Amino acid sequence: MPKLTIDGKEIEVADGLNLIQAAEQIGVEIPHYCYHPALTIVGNCRMCLVEVEKAPKLQIACNTKVAEGMVVHTQSAKTKTAQKAVLEFLLINHPIDCPVCDQAGECKLQDYYMQYDEQVSRFPLEKKVRKGKAIPIGSDVMLDQERCVLCARCTRFFDEVTHTSELAIFERGDHNEIDIYPGQPVNNKYAGNVIDICPVGALTEKDFRFRMRVWYLHRATSVCGGCERGCAIDIHHQRGRIYRYKPRYNPEVNSYWMCDEGRHHFTKLQNETRLTAPLVQDRERLMPEEWSVAVRRLASQIGNFKKSFGPRSIGAMIGAQATNEEAFALKRLLLDTIGSDRIAMVSYTPPGMSGDDEFLIRANKNPNTRGLEAMGIPPAHFSEFGAAVAAGELKMLILMRTDLLGMMGETEFIRDFGALEYLVVLDTDASETAQMANQVLPIGAYPETDGSFTNFKGRVQRLSQAFPPPGEALTGIEAIARLGHAIDGQERTADANAIFTQLAASEPAFEGISFDALMPYGISLKGAAQ
Ligand code: SF4
Ligand code: SF4
Ligand code: FES
Repeated sequence: MPKLTIDGKEIEVADGLNLIQAAEQIGVEIPHYCYHPALTIVGNCRMCLVEVEKAPKLQIACNTKVAEGMVVHTQSAKTKTAQKAVLEFLLINHPIDCPVCDQAGECKLQDYYMQYDEQVSRFPLEKKVRKGKAIPIGSDVMLDQERCVLCARCTRFFDEVTHTSELAIFERGDHNEIDIYPGQPVNNKYAGNVIDICPVGALTEKDFRFRMRVWYLHRATSVCGGCERGCAIDIHHQRGRIYRYKPRYNPEVNSYWMCDEGRHHFTKLQNETRLTAPLVQDRERLMPEEWSVAVRRLASQIGNFKKSFGPRSIGAMIGAQATNEEAFALKRLLLDTIGSDRIAMVSYTPPGMSGDDEFLIRANKNPNTRGLEAMGIPPAHFSEFGAAVAAGELKMLILMRTDLLGMMGETEFIRDFGALEYLVVLDTDASETAQMANQVLPIGAYPETDGSFTNFKGRVQRLSQAFPPPGEALTGIEAIARLGHAIDGQERTADANAIFTQLAASEPAFEGISFDALMPYGISLKGAAQ
């Protein structure tokens, strides 16, 4: 643990850190472009030059390791002169694009110019070297060569992380430029990460470009629901719409990265088919009704089936897209309130999806299979449920986040479940199953709820609600709480934190975990292999 002094402040830090990391620990920013903690150090941008006493000249902080007795100045006149010089140099051929550049608001060239430079350019506009603009280089990535500061973060990402090496630096001197090899576009499943790590507006996202200024966006910390890896993300949203997902650092799950499939997962959650009001089947049509009427109607149906055929005439299936809290609340509703143990999990992946790879992507596209397993909800065997229907033992089926008809196909669904007397759907979208239901209760998608997912390794991570569900839709836990209240008159909490506390108290695998402790990196289930 070497002791060193940065800007007059003595600190003791872990051995092996570089000066950027050491300074960060006392809240001192050393500006940098090429350094990225998950990539090798190339030291080519020189933005991180600092004065180190006894060194003959300024040192690059990214490639200078801390040492006992080191004295570093990040604010000295020498350091400041170097920072101005580097920025002036980087800006010589930079286009005057800021007003129309999509990176504005999160561009390190803009930010550092305002913080460390602020001098008028001495270089005539007409002499700037012109390079390519708005070049689609494959996947979802647009390249603007003029804006590039040649930090080589993108080339290193493709060389060191995906090992696909699609990008390289071509030409020489001030004609240096980033490009793809002729006829070989960027075409790997993690390409979007270079958009995140590019410190300027040289690499931007085709889908996001010009859709929203970044300073209007709000952020919610969450977890990608695209597969059972559960990459930590930030949801960038505005007025009830998601504009993009960005990976959030979690050393236990995804480091700094996410896949492109996950990056676009939100587009499936905000389409025209979203359910916005409770619906009831009325003369072969689904008609909207108030929540209070809907839950009273459903409670009374549950009461009738219980009375006439016993509690096990009512069953439920829950998709592994549900949060831990939703699954626990539904399990308790079935077991304690209704008195039926007929509850099972559906962990379904549609055909044609990508399989496991050696990096992040998992073949199982359900974010919470492990969570539901850990609370003892068994996998659903459709044939067993179907047999119970055929035998007249199962009369009412509650489906939460489960498009049973879409999974089975119409013929099989009608064969196995056509004899059901009452079908209830709690879901986000007007799925094929919802069209067949007697009652439909609209609930929020995972970005619209507080809660948690447990990934395939048993890491429990927290989701924060970005915004409420659309229209009259409620969060899944609120819908279950209202239904429970309509059945037995007991108030139930719809607060994710409170439900998680109950879950941790009664499910052994979750014992000792608190909802608050799930931020920022999650906690592993008891006994889960790391
Ligand atoms: S495109 Fe971006 S990440 Fe790549 S070298 Fe240029 S500035 Fe760096
Ligand atoms: S690997 Fe899975 S969880 Fe991670 S971003 Fe991709 S789809 Fe989402
Ligand atoms: S960050 Fe140190 S040289 Fe680029």
